[in-house]
Amino acid sequence: MRFEGCIAMVTGAGSGLGAQTARALSAEGAVVVLSDVDGAAAARVAQDLPKAWSAALDVSDAAAVQAHVDAICARHGRLDLAVNNAGIAHGLALIEDTDMAAFDAVIAVNLRGAFACLRAQLPVMKAQGSGAIVMLASAAGLAGAGRLAAYAASKHGVVGLARSAADEAGRSGVRINAICPAFTETPMLEGLTTALTERYGAAGARDRLSARMPLGRTAETGEIVQAVLWALDPQNSFLTGAAIPIDGGLTAI
Ligand SMILES: NC(=O)c1ccc[n+]([C@@H]2O[C@H](COP(=O)([O-])OP(=O)(O)OC[C@H]3O[C@@H](n4cnc5c(N)ncnc54)[C@H](O)[C@@H]3O)[C@@H](O)[C@H]2O)c1
Repeated sequence: MRFEGCIAMVTGAGSGLGAQTARALSAEGAVVVLSDVDGAAAARVAQDLPKAWSAALDVSDAAAVQAHVDAICARHGRLDLAVNNAGIAHGLALIEDTDMAAFDAVIAVNLRGAFACLRAQLPVMKAQGSGAIVMLASAAGLAGAGRLAAYAASKHGVVGLARSAADEAGRSGVRINAICPAFTETPMLEGLTTALTERYGAAGARDRLSARMPLGRTAETGEIVQAVLWALDPQNSFLTGAAIPIDGGLTAI
């Protein structure tokens, strides 16, 4: 029970990595506050977790993010852990074929949303003198990703935020790290690979992704979530400002 009694905020908790992270934190004793732009999806995950509650939250709405953090503090008096996980991708496309609207949407959720979360969470954690935050970046936050340029730009920005926040908050006892997964089996990956699936079939699409990975396969959600919990773990007290690839070796080559 590494997180017994800790108050934890997880964004984008209605699906995929966010939902699995919320379940894992709850299983290790945390009181988890789940949020998602799809409030019903967050509520469905929360209903199975003891002491958890949920809210509808669009992370690109900075005022709503502030109100959500205020509500957590009003109810629990503190915020110990945060997983800034909400994110979206865009369809695979060359830069010249990517709509500006798609670029703006990805930046609004992935980068502006991550900034808005930090902006609301850090004052609380700095004032209490403790806290740990994980930002869900991506292997595409560490290396370029052709046909995913807007997404990669947003995730490079998330890595920059994590490193900068670590510098600002470390002396106040707050640690911020970025976890950088590669292709992980969630609904996001299904959306990303729609074009590949249409062309090669579902198995063929997976084969093409797997062929790029030194481990020769995509990741299961649990393989990423265990790293998120490891980075949050109070025993990991000297880890901050790190951008950690959990990517089957993709960024090693
Ligand atoms: N799956 C992968 O291959 C992969 C790889 C690298 C990084 N990531 C990152 O991991 C994170 C989680 O992705 P996932 O694979 O679980 O995706 P997912 O699509 O399964 O889940 C993302 C969740 O975020 C929510 N969301 C979308 N826009 C939102 C907004 N504006 N405000 C609040 N919530 C919003 C969605 O409703 C959804 O529940 C994302 O930041 C993603 O970029 C995923």
